[in-house]
Amino acid sequence: MTASPLATATPSLDALWMPFTANKAYKARPRLLVSAKDMHYRTDDGRTILDGTAGLWCVNAGHCRQPIIDAMMQAASTLDYAPSFQMGHPAMFALADALRRVLPAGLDRVFLSGSGSEAVDSALKIALAYHQARGEPERCHFVGRQKGYHGVGFGGISVGGLENNRKAFAKQLLPHTHHLPHTHDLAHNAFSVGQPAWGAHLADALEEIIAAEGAAHIAAVIVEPVSGSAGVLIPPVGYLERLRALCTQHGILLIFDEVITGFGRVGAPFAAQHFGVTPDIITTAKGLTNAAVPMGATCVRGDIYDTVVNASPRGIELFHGYTYSGHPLAAAAGLAALTLYEQEGLLTRAATLAPVWSAALHSLRDAPHVIDIRTIGLIGGIELAVRDDTIGARGFDVFTNAFHEQDALIRVTGDTIALSPPLIISEAQIDELVGKVRRAIEAVG
Ligand SMILES: Cc1ncc(COP(=O)(O)O)c(C=O)c1O
Repeated sequence: MTASPLATATPSLDALWMPFTANKAYKARPRLLVSAKDMHYRTDDGRTILDGTAGLWCVNAGHCRQPIIDAMMQAASTLDYAPSFQMGHPAMFALADALRRVLPAGLDRVFLSGSGSEAVDSALKIALAYHQARGEPERCHFVGRQKGYHGVGFGGISVGGLENNRKAFAKQLLPHTHHLPHTHDLAHNAFSVGQPAWGAHLADALEEIIAAEGAAHIAAVIVEPVSGSAGVLIPPVGYLERLRALCTQHGILLIFDEVITGFGRVGAPFAAQHFGVTPDIITTAKGLTNAAVPMGATCVRGDIYDTVVNASPRGIELFHGYTYSGHPLAAAAGLAALTLYEQEGLLTRAATLAPVWSAALHSLRDAPHVIDIRTIGLIGGIELAVRDDTIGARGFDVFTNAFHEQDALIRVTGDTIALSPPLIISEAQIDELVGKVRRAIEAVG
């Protein structure tokens, strides 16, 4: 791992307003990463950090993988940028075509964007455009879920259900949004391995929304098949099937937000395949390029594309797109990442490792203040008891202890430690990571 030139510089931290960060606390005690390779980061003070989170659920093949670097360098020196409005370049078409190899059958049209948030907003707009093209423009309500995370666009935070992400903007969210109850219930489901047995009936809340609003007004239901940002919530057995059945029955589009679950995280290319439930639209990003360049994708059923495109006799059919839709560098990274995932069996490796992973994580059950552990594929949530009514205080202390004292990057949301390592993690590294997490939890006490 070679150090970046920035490793020796000491930049002022003042100018940057950091995203989703306690800016004052961070700037008082920064955590700077200067290079990375495979399973590890290197810090500005020369420490090697085990990556327990694949960056931010995104570096699925591990860091700085040579085939992806080579593809990006080749792309950058050949075609730095090409407009994608009324123009194109081969790699963007090749990527969309290649994604069909791994998407669920039937979801074979791909709209490219620059992030997960953009993929979600694109999905919501496509859903509205589709119903309008079908002659049902009054289908304009959206149904999300409490504790859902769908990025930070106004569409995403409107259908999302994380109150902290909405409260400062609450007066200007999208109208006509409704929320299903979340499925987090320790009284019934604590310490489950894989899908919890209890909770399929929570999907029936959709029937109540349909009864209240009228099915003919509802455009789409959007959920994360496994939610990460809310602290790892795994769908109860039968829950997604029930949502699928209700949506089909009432002509409502079902959108799976697979920004974190796409590209092998739960043991199949997409969670839809793992759970055997096919939505009408999948949003994805992150692992799409192994996070080497930002990119998002909204993948839709062929007839959704056909309906919208054929509804316009001429001219632009969907007035939507981004300057960076299908950016050449991102398209090249996406193609190289997909090839690497396939060559190394990473799209299904999480299924093979899941028993080892879940046994290792559940061994933390006796660690102090652990009140739940949830695992699926290569995802793990370890929920700690709230300290002194201050939500997130204990979790944040464990996070900083893990980074500064144990040389591990973990993620916490509230008091839940969320682990999602690169899919190349070895069994020995799983044990090492769990050991570091245990020591951090014990140190914080
Ligand atoms: C399920 C889900 N949707 C959307 C997003 C937003 O993606 P981005 O941060 O690339 O905009 C995320 C990011 O974590 C996510 O987990």
